Amino acid sequence: MSEPMPLKHRRIVLGLSGGIACYKAAELARELVKAGASVQVVMTEAAEAFITPVTMQALSGHAVYTSQWDAREGNNMAHINLTREADAVMVAPASADFIAKIAHGTADDLLSLLCLARPRERCALLLAPAMNREMWSHPATQRNVAQVRDDGALVLGPGSGDQACGETGDGRMLEALELRDELIAGLQPQHLAGKRVLVTAGPTFEAIDPVRGITNLSSGKMGFAIARAAREAGAQVTLVAGPVALPTPRHVQRIDVQSAQQMHDAVVPIAAAHDVFVATAAVADWRPATFAQRKIKKDGSKTTPVFELTENPDILAAVARLPDRPYCVGFAAETDDLARNAREKLARKNVPLIVGNLGPATFGRDDNALLLVDAQGERQLASADKLTLARELVREIAERLATVAQRAS
Ligand SMILES: Cc1cc2nc3c(=O)[nH]c(=O)nc-3n(C[C@H](O)[C@H](O)[C@H](O)COP(=O)(O)O)c2cc1C
Repeated sequence: MSEPMPLKHRRIVLGLSGGIACYKAAELARELVKAGASVQVVMTEAAEAFITPVTMQALSGHAVYTSQWDAREGNNMAHINLTREADAVMVAPASADFIAKIAHGTADDLLSLLCLARPRERCALLLAPAMNREMWSHPATQRNVAQVRDDGALVLGPGSGDQACGETGDGRMLEALELRDELIAGLQPQHLAGKRVLVTAGPTFEAIDPVRGITNLSSGKMGFAIARAAREAGAQVTLVAGPVALPTPRHVQRIDVQSAQQMHDAVVPIAAAHDVFVATAAVADWRPATFAQRKIKKDGSKTTPVFELTENPDILAAVARLPDRPYCVGFAAETDDLARNAREKLARKNVPLIVGNLGPATFGRDDNALLLVDAQGERQLASADKLTLARELVREIAERLATVAQRAS
């Protein structure tokens, strides 16, 4: 599901303030560079006590800045120059002291100064707090965190767990990969800010007996990518997942189910509380009519068991029938004649948008190609990794949602 070079052409100022978690900043710098970013490291004097600028220079490929009096800049104004081309400043670790400075607009060293001097409308500030749990929970720190949030900074984490000091609690800096993903998310356009999105993903499992069942080859990757992309676009996301072993996208609320009936029962009661419903799951159309309480065994006779099937509830149609239904997007996984099948499904399910894809070409794979079919026509999203396609689809959904809202007003 990973997209190639998600931070290509991005310029990031990576700030380090004084804390033990500076050791994680080395790995973070590597991950950002690996993701394609150009990384300029700036360190406070205290950060230099924890990790050397040599390490950070070697990993980022750029000489590190530590002082506002650095004469390398022609105009001697590193605090201005460093953020004029930057997409974001990420401070990781952000010490309690550093957050206090940002909250108050104190600017007595290069890193705090450049945060204050950055062009706020196009250069995001992301802070990854890292400190002892008592420092984190102190009312002064909490006041400062609330203030920096209010001023537009994104506060990432902190996580919880064992701390370098030997205590356990809140205040651990997020891991390098988590911070990389938060940065990628923070740079996405907020097409769905304030919206609530419900996504289904994966296959369903229709039990025959306690150890066997009917399922399909859906991996859940497309639905999980859509949940992640919607969240990145600013939505509050609920993901109802069939049996898959994929990690939950960050900040997404996940509900695990097995069967089509369970998915139906999880989705329908909450659907109307959402603005958008994306039915990506490959829901089994039929299930065994009866469930054998014990494993069906070979009994030595030549008769093979015969299973009667019964139809499962149609989740998309059930949501589309709700009086205050969300904007419904259905997926059609076909083996042939994609456009015709997708258009047929559009009419049959009475939904505004159907996304067609070829089952055998997408199940289990990291890439896909999508065909968007609605009343206006068709649009092909060319083959790409599933996250890239999911972001594109989210943008398309947001555009349609805005049109619907415009018409309604
Ligand atoms: C060994 C040691 C570990 C420290 N770890 C942290 C830490 O994890 N988080 C934090 O906020 N401060 C920590 N501090 C305190 C900061 O380094 C101190 O407040 C410093 O003034 C921060 O400066 P800066 O914000 O300019 O980088 C630690 C201090 C020492 C001596």
